[in-house]
Amino acid sequence: MSDTILELNNLEVHFNTFDGRAKVINGVDLKVEEGETVAIVGESGCGKSVTAETIMHMLPQPPGEIIDGELYYHDTELLGDESAHRRVKNESFGMIFQDPMTSLSPVFTVGEMMRDVITYRNKTNVGWFDILKNMLGRNTVSDEEIREECVELLDQLQIPDPEGILNRYPVELSGGMRQRVLIAMALLGDPEFLIADEPTTALDVTVQDQILDLLTEQIEREDLSMLYITHNLGVARRIADRIYVMYAGEIAEFGTCEDILDEPLHPYSRGLVDSVPKLTEFDRKGIDGLIPDYTDPPSGCRFHPRCPAAIVGECDVNPPPRFELADGHEVACHLYEDGLSRTEANEIATKEAKEERDSEGIPLSSTTNGESNQTTDQMVKGTEGSDE
Ligand SMILES: Nc1ncnc2c1ncn2[C@@H]1O[C@H](COP(=O)(O)OP(=O)(O)OP(=O)(O)O)[C@@H](O)[C@H]1O
Ligand code: SF4
Ligand SMILES: [Mg+2]
Repeated sequence: MSDTILELNNLEVHFNTFDGRAKVINGVDLKVEEGETVAIVGESGCGKSVTAETIMHMLPQPPGEIIDGELYYHDTELLGDESAHRRVKNESFGMIFQDPMTSLSPVFTVGEMMRDVITYRNKTNVGWFDILKNMLGRNTVSDEEIREECVELLDQLQIPDPEGILNRYPVELSGGMRQRVLIAMALLGDPEFLIADEPTTALDVTVQDQILDLLTEQIEREDLSMLYITHNLGVARRIADRIYVMYAGEIAEFGTCEDILDEPLHPYSRGLVDSVPKLTEFDRKGIDGLIPDYTDPPSGCRFHPRCPAAIVGECDVNPPPRFELADGHEVACHLYEDGLSRTEANEIATKEAKEERDSEGIPLSSTTNGESNQTTDQMVKGTEGSDE
């Protein structure tokens, strides 16, 4: 059995903004096993990058503030120990950013930037003495060794003329080449754990495909673990072993790629899957509405104002507990409280079923709602009955 390399428990992150306190991340749990690639998917603004920044010790504080949570890397807790977090980040983490143009310096050549990564890797703090030593060429690693390491890595990432690329500036490279350089730089310090935040979003589909191939090869070759952030479900299926679906700073559901993409349980996951444009279908499906305002997030389930199956008196009041419906496939949704099956839940969690209920003036209500006293089970039967 594999061991857990990274475990995040009950993360809560707030931001102090001009509009008030934004309660962005609200109790996120997540696990990555050794050798595993885990994807976080969710729409723009749901908190994917804030989660990654917290793990990478890159959260701007202020305005960000970690209110609660534990982050274990192997057995070391990082959120309560700043120096351990810095050390683990420098020695074991590699980060691939979304936008190479803002992540690579325009005034240094690729070779100079890669050289700096090698020179300063594993150093928690870089002082003036280190910089002076570097300028005087008194490094522990020789120029020749650095060059060899860079060329080998650029070559593995199928960059043509790796020797020549070392003397070029980022602006002289294509988008795909820049992204490869960024991946090479993330791999330079021999990391054990990679975090990739939408690294292929800006690339066209063919280059995206090549980059994903290269990344998968490197991960297999070096036996790395990875957290991959994307809003593209196709990319998640292609690269990940498991997927976490995030909505408004909470984990709605997680499971294997097949669980999430073929048999989603949560109404939000299902909406996400339905939102993917199909080449042969022109009907717009998916989820109406927007991510909520984090300074005043909805009570109960944060998805309830947009959910076609929201149970009145339950979903707008109580945060949903998590239910494990199959081995390793968990969902945070009140629908599953009364032992509803996935098929039953999916029948009531459609826009059409909601429109039908709305036209009949019968909202979904919980078993605890004394007034209508209608259970979700009865509601399912009602929906089934009306289909006949
Ligand atoms: N430095 C910051 N100051 C204030 N609010 C922030 C800051 N960083 C992030 N946020 C807020 O946190 C929320 C989540 O942002 P985040 O960048 O994590 O979204 P995301 O899921 O990565 O979206 P995208 O797919 O567009 O990258 C947003 O509402 C954003 O405005
Ligand atoms: S049914 Fe309720 S708990 Fe489930 S997603 Fe909808 S609003 Fe949230
Ligand atoms: Mg982001």
